[in-house]
Amino acid sequence: MTNENDLKRGRTALVDGTSISSLVDRDKREVSTRLFSDPEIYQLELERIFAKNWIIVGHESEISEVGDFVTRRLGDDPVIVARRRDGGIDCMLNVCSHRGALVCREEAGNSSVFRCIYHGWIFNLDGSFRGAPFKEEMYPDGMDASRLGLRKARVGVYGGIIFANWDESAPSLEDYLGDYKYYLNLIFNKVPNGMEVLGPPQRFVINANWKTASEQFGGDAYHAGQLHRSLGALTGGSPTNPRDWQLHAPKVSTENGHNIICFDLGDMYRAISGGKELSPIEKLHILPPSGVPPEMLPEMLQLLGEKELEFLATTPPGNGGIFPNAGVWNMHNPMYNGVPAPFLSFRTYLPLGPDKFEFCMWVLVAKGASEEYRDLMRRSTSFMQGASGFIEGDDAEVWPGQTSASRGYIGRQGTLKYWTLTGEHKPEGWPGEGNVHAGFSRDDPQWNWWQRYFDRLEEKV
Ligand code: FES
Ligand SMILES: [Fe+2]
Repeated sequence: MTNENDLKRGRTALVDGTSISSLVDRDKREVSTRLFSDPEIYQLELERIFAKNWIIVGHESEISEVGDFVTRRLGDDPVIVARRRDGGIDCMLNVCSHRGALVCREEAGNSSVFRCIYHGWIFNLDGSFRGAPFKEEMYPDGMDASRLGLRKARVGVYGGIIFANWDESAPSLEDYLGDYKYYLNLIFNKVPNGMEVLGPPQRFVINANWKTASEQFGGDAYHAGQLHRSLGALTGGSPTNPRDWQLHAPKVSTENGHNIICFDLGDMYRAISGGKELSPIEKLHILPPSGVPPEMLPEMLQLLGEKELEFLATTPPGNGGIFPNAGVWNMHNPMYNGVPAPFLSFRTYLPLGPDKFEFCMWVLVAKGASEEYRDLMRRSTSFMQGASGFIEGDDAEVWPGQTSASRGYIGRQGTLKYWTLTGEHKPEGWPGEGNVHAGFSRDDPQWNWWQRYFDRLEEKV
């Protein structure tokens, strides 16, 4: 049977004849604004990006016990992410193989099986078919259980984060993350027992195209100088103000479109110490990395090597984007009193159509952290990020405007500009891999994101 995907495969033009490759000018580094609202492009993205890359669907601590599950979306398909009896994790299409009903209707829970409410077919925790009511009466010739399980995606876990991918031929998650793993390790693998979530993710809907947020989180520090001026006002221009760190921070781009901004904390430590030069270990004692409470610092010091500790104390990986639609955020931000507090999260910008996405944010902390520290992380993160956060409050004002502006007949004929690059400029002794762009923030990381996007949209990779 020919399906919609078969018809689309290999397409190089949109129905109005516009070639997909003409949506980007790779020499001038300009991208068509049409991409922020076009329904046809959205359908291509579901096929060529969301069905073929590793997409974040949760954190393993959300489903730590056998039978724990959460329901999420992978692209625009509903999925169940569940802990199997053998301890492994499965991600399966939450669509009944009988007549297409939604099998699991809860957001999260614990169960030994999944039972469809429509006719009652039952599936095991790993998605395999278990049985049906009135089996003998309904199916006297038997049922081929091997054909009836829920369709499964591949699953990979890195730093506790669960990724899924529908594409059987895609590279492994480890290869997909590549050099980016070095930076993820310093965010999520810095204590021996890893991190855990502080409750379910915060979720809210923004009326904007998913790429407005994703490309920005891919490394646009430039906007921090203007859009996030409220952060400067908050701290009276003190050196603890992350707005200024962002503008001058080294950015790292790695293969497959991932990016991270590493913040130079020199000014902040000088301000805290009254100008005294501090050793890396002294710095880490003054402000332990986000998610690590002071009492767990010795565990981190034992786990990481000298170079990694120095890196964390000077230019720790702060915020960045995992292609296509995820971001990580690991830093200290000033609270209302100007005192820096830690926060640590990852988020996804989940498409709900060409002009709407769900913002989904998980807050993390080291496993075993005290209740007092958890409370601090909850307060500091919600103060800065998410629905009530200073930062997202600013950004959520811009993303819908970019989307609606690109809907008009004239508006969709414009371009987004990524003209100015720093190029490879790696500070001496930089311990991580990837292309490092030190100096004033330019467009390198976002251009890295867009190149991967178009490589996928044009099916070049
Ligand atoms: S649709 Fe699920 S049992 Fe019929
Ligand atoms: Fe922002």
